[in-house]
Amino acid sequence: MTNQMERIGTLCSDAEKGKALTREEIIELLVCEDQYSNIILEAADRVRQGEVGDHVHLRGLIEFSNYCKRNCEYCGLRRANKKLNRYRLEIEEVIDTAKNAERLGYRSVVLQSGEDPYYTVDKICKIVEGIKSSTDLAITLSCGEFSYEEYKQMREAGADRYLLRFETSSKELYKKLHPDSDYDQRIQCLNDLRRAGFQVGSGFMVGLPGETPEILADNLLLLRELDVDMAGIGPFIPNPDTELGEENGGLLIDALKAVAIARLLLRNAHLPATTALGTLDPRGREKALCAGANVVMPNVSPMKYRELYALYPNKICVTDDPGHCRNCITGKINGLGRSVAKDHGHTLKNTNK
Ligand code: 5AD
Ligand code: SF4
Ligand code: FES
Repeated sequence: MTNQMERIGTLCSDAEKGKALTREEIIELLVCEDQYSNIILEAADRVRQGEVGDHVHLRGLIEFSNYCKRNCEYCGLRRANKKLNRYRLEIEEVIDTAKNAERLGYRSVVLQSGEDPYYTVDKICKIVEGIKSSTDLAITLSCGEFSYEEYKQMREAGADRYLLRFETSSKELYKKLHPDSDYDQRIQCLNDLRRAGFQVGSGFMVGLPGETPEILADNLLLLRELDVDMAGIGPFIPNPDTELGEENGGLLIDALKAVAIARLLLRNAHLPATTALGTLDPRGREKALCAGANVVMPNVSPMKYRELYALYPNKICVTDDPGHCRNCITGKINGLGRSVAKDHGHTLKNTNK
């Protein structure tokens, strides 16, 4: 046995037993030779099994508007991207799409959009109230930055959860990638969401240009500090219609390791096997489900809009209808010896499981 293999094994077995990994230890895991990565992924798989069990939660993703007033350098929806045809669903269309998701067996939907000024808080609340009054779905919103009062209004309208990735924990890198946004504001929003009573999801991309193992370790520690209920982690995929189109993307193994270390650190948080992981590798989502992840978010948006929600190229499922994806993903989950959860998939924090 090599020294490094032994060292990685010790770190993982201590982490598995619940010892909190330090920043230096996380960096050691992140930079270990690829041949030892499986030790980390397997430890995370066991922690996942012990903490959240074998059920996989499905959330139906509704991409209701691809308009965005922001200009994140990595994202195809950025306002400067004039090549993209923009669309938005009307309030009733979003509600109908949610009803269809429930008919397909989903217990939970995620309503995601760019930061679209057309969708005022009042309109978002109308959608939430419409879905809550006609279905039994849990609702996650993912529509960007708002004030505390606005988040509170959304929560009072009945939304259960909110996803807002911090994208990177490095203030410097954040500034570079988001010329017109502010890191402290982002963190403020995450605290406001918690105060407004939401189950809070955050997360980041792996392999952004300029990212170092130190930054990646701090991303993971920030998830723990924020005590998130959910954490979405996916590789950066260069989009040719953006500033970063010529850069290198994140690697599958690095993204999988980040998911695995998140499981070791966050214990019973919900961790999705992200669409970006499925885009890098046809079995990317399955690999993530075997490395700590316990959630999948299949697309349930109407077919005609699918290809326009182009965060990055070659997104999976763009030509597959919602019924097909529901069956496909159930097959993949069952193929791993796991099963689709039947409950709403609320947070497991502050519960005994
Ligand atoms: N590659 C990977 N993920 C991306 N996102 C946006 N653009 C890209 C890209 N090029 C992610 C961001 C955002 C989420 C909705 O999609 O992390 O929070
Ligand atoms: Fe807009 Fe979100 Fe894309 Fe940034 S990442 S440009 S806020 S859709
Ligand atoms: Fe969409 Fe498999 S989940 S085709």
